[in-house]
Amino acid sequence: MNLELLAAQAKACVACALSRQRTHVVFGEGNPDAKLMIVGEGPGEEEDLQGRPFVGRSGQLLDKILEAAGIPRTSVYITNIVKCRPPQNRVPDPLEAKTCTTLWLIKQIQIVRPQIIIPLGATALEFFAGEKLSITKVRGKFFEWQGIKVFPMFHPAYLLRNPSREPGSPKHLTWLDIQLVKKTLDELGPKQGVEIKAIQQDPLF
Ligand code: URA
Repeated sequence: MNLELLAAQAKACVACALSRQRTHVVFGEGNPDAKLMIVGEGPGEEEDLQGRPFVGRSGQLLDKILEAAGIPRTSVYITNIVKCRPPQNRVPDPLEAKTCTTLWLIKQIQIVRPQIIIPLGATALEFFAGEKLSITKVRGKFFEWQGIKVFPMFHPAYLLRNPSREPGSPKHLTWLDIQLVKKTLDELGPKQGVEIKAIQQDPLF
């Protein structure tokens, strides 16, 4: 299985009701051999129109954050918990998230085999943590999921609503966080052959 084939299958997905309202499936994009994978919540309006993740205002800020730390966007693989836009950008419901991650995200992770995953915001964090946690409490700290380092960060949409750059502000903390990601990526060196075993999931169907 490769990402192109998986993306082609995802384009035809009708596994949940979000498929009925989408313009495009936003599967994900970037380096198929990335050391770093970034996982957001779900496509917004602009992403739905273009069929690409993080191309609206949040995406522009994400690009700036990556660029500031010297991480080219093209070196990263970027995707979301759900691949179709939830109406009015609401939070995906648990069944939508479970269905979409089981069908697509887990397979994307198995193909890309990232060494670090950044969940952006609470919805993506919940998938990797297996429980609802406060992003404010756990951001900037690594934990392990399936042998992969997971490093939660604030969602850029939250930073857009909180533009202060004062020490201790979400933007300031994000700057510290992304620098730690860059340092960790550099220390990891060239990508090793990380083997991701069958990912244990509760059965869905
Ligand atoms: N917000 C997300 O969580 N994902 C996107 O792709 C765009 C905005």
